Amino acid sequence: MKKVSIGLLRPNPISFSLYGDLNQDENFLSLKTSIQLEGVLEPLVVTKDYYIISGVRRFYAAKQLGLQEIDVIFSLISQDQVDEYVVISHQQQRVKSSVQIFREIEIIRKKYDLKQGRNQKNPLVIQGNKERDELIKLRSTGTFNRLKDSKKMLSDLYKGDEAQVWKELYKMDNQRKSVLSIQKEVRKRLTQSKLTKDTTIVKELVTENLYKIFQANAMKLFFLEDGLVDLVFTSPPYYCLRDYETGEIQLGNEKTVEEFIENLVKVLIECARVMKNSASMFINIMDSYKDGVLLNVPGKLKQALMDKGLMLVSEIVWVKENPLYIKGKRPQPCYEVIYHFVKTLDYKYYTDWMSDVEFEGQVTYGDFGKSRQLKNFFDYRNQVANTNVANNVKLANLMKKMGYDMDHSATMPFEIPNIGILSTTQVGDTVLDPFNGLGTTGLAAISQDRYYIGVDNNPRYIEQSKVRLNLFEEGHTKLQTESQTINQAA
Ligand SMILES: C[S@@+](CC[C@H](N)C(=O)[O-])C[C@H]1O[C@@H](n2cnc3c(N)ncnc32)[C@H](O)[C@@H]1O
Repeated sequence: MKKVSIGLLRPNPISFSLYGDLNQDENFLSLKTSIQLEGVLEPLVVTKDYYIISGVRRFYAAKQLGLQEIDVIFSLISQDQVDEYVVISHQQQRVKSSVQIFREIEIIRKKYDLKQGRNQKNPLVIQGNKERDELIKLRSTGTFNRLKDSKKMLSDLYKGDEAQVWKELYKMDNQRKSVLSIQKEVRKRLTQSKLTKDTTIVKELVTENLYKIFQANAMKLFFLEDGLVDLVFTSPPYYCLRDYETGEIQLGNEKTVEEFIENLVKVLIECARVMKNSASMFINIMDSYKDGVLLNVPGKLKQALMDKGLMLVSEIVWVKENPLYIKGKRPQPCYEVIYHFVKTLDYKYYTDWMSDVEFEGQVTYGDFGKSRQLKNFFDYRNQVANTNVANNVKLANLMKKMGYDMDHSATMPFEIPNIGILSTTQVGDTVLDPFNGLGTTGLAAISQDRYYIGVDNNPRYIEQSKVRLNLFEEGHTKLQTESQTINQAA
């Protein structure tokens, strides 16, 4: 890309017949307004002799506005191919991309000052709404919401530099990326921008009365002292299943399963150090397939932890009542296993909480602000816990209203961490989850009046966990037992 003097550029004569009188063209006028506001965001494409192949409208708009220079990209096509390319480029331009439509909507909003609270009977507002609604009809609301979200994240990334934000959006649009992949890419870039690669740096992102969440690499928990917690309950990333956007420091995307096990064992041995001798560790992990073959991840992990001296005392099968069936050459896995490890055989184990259960033939699924009593709760004394898979639709909608796009889909149902919390801890004890995710363990812990420490390396998930946990806390009185505060604990 090069900046050239506008005087050097030559529109191709064929462009005139394609565009007609630009000054009568509404789109041209809004393009001019946009260039006036933010400059030319997309470079023109020109031949080496400065004939314009693509961007003639931008050229005229810039010229009419008195701009002296403009960005161009040189194309290698020969002079006799120019006409053909101008027509192709023109046709492509006519099919507006979602980003272009979104841009036009934003321009209309600015031009007519369409903001909340304006008198809807004002003729300018009426005209603006009409123009905007015509454009909105061209795509679904979901498309514009994704773009709005991407724009917001880019704005965060580029500290409100509007011109840069649009440049980035156009760049991805020119690469013919779908709106969904634009949103995913921007989200990943934003997350990565907030990461600290240096594992010695720990950010204490959230400190509330009942819980703390640290942004850190779970492999190095040096900021948590030995013998601090009563329970570790965690669901680590499963091998080769998801991308949690944090690049190399995330677990689960290692080249080999052996490397993955090695890293996971490092995390869990760190957790064991942070556990009291009487504490328990529950690990919820499922096997992974490679080329249609199971890798035996749980088996390998169990053996590796036993080799390090941890003792496996039980396995609880979590049966999913409403799995999503996918066609394939094997039955759908509808269960996962939760492995209960301990450091010593003096581990705490409680069964009295069971007597509080009122079986009413129904199971509740962790609604916010409801009773803390274990009413309608499930029983897993036969080593089998039956639940529905986590349903986060309500939470996601609530988050959306608060401006958060909740995209973490690997959450556990609320009941699962309760298995460990109820059977191995008491009110005022401290629970740790080194793979916090959206804080399901934390939610279960604070709802049972336990303290919680979470660790995750994705700051966005931490932010969303905070919203989730605070939503729960809002409806409740603070912890009764003041024998231990989390500030003393951590
Ligand atoms: C399966 S999810 C946990 C979901 C959680 N149990 C819930 O219900 O919300 C795994 C989490 O581990 C985090 N993670 C992956 N590698 C990590 C690492 N090295 N250090 C800290 N967190 C990591 C990911 O960002 C992701 O949020």
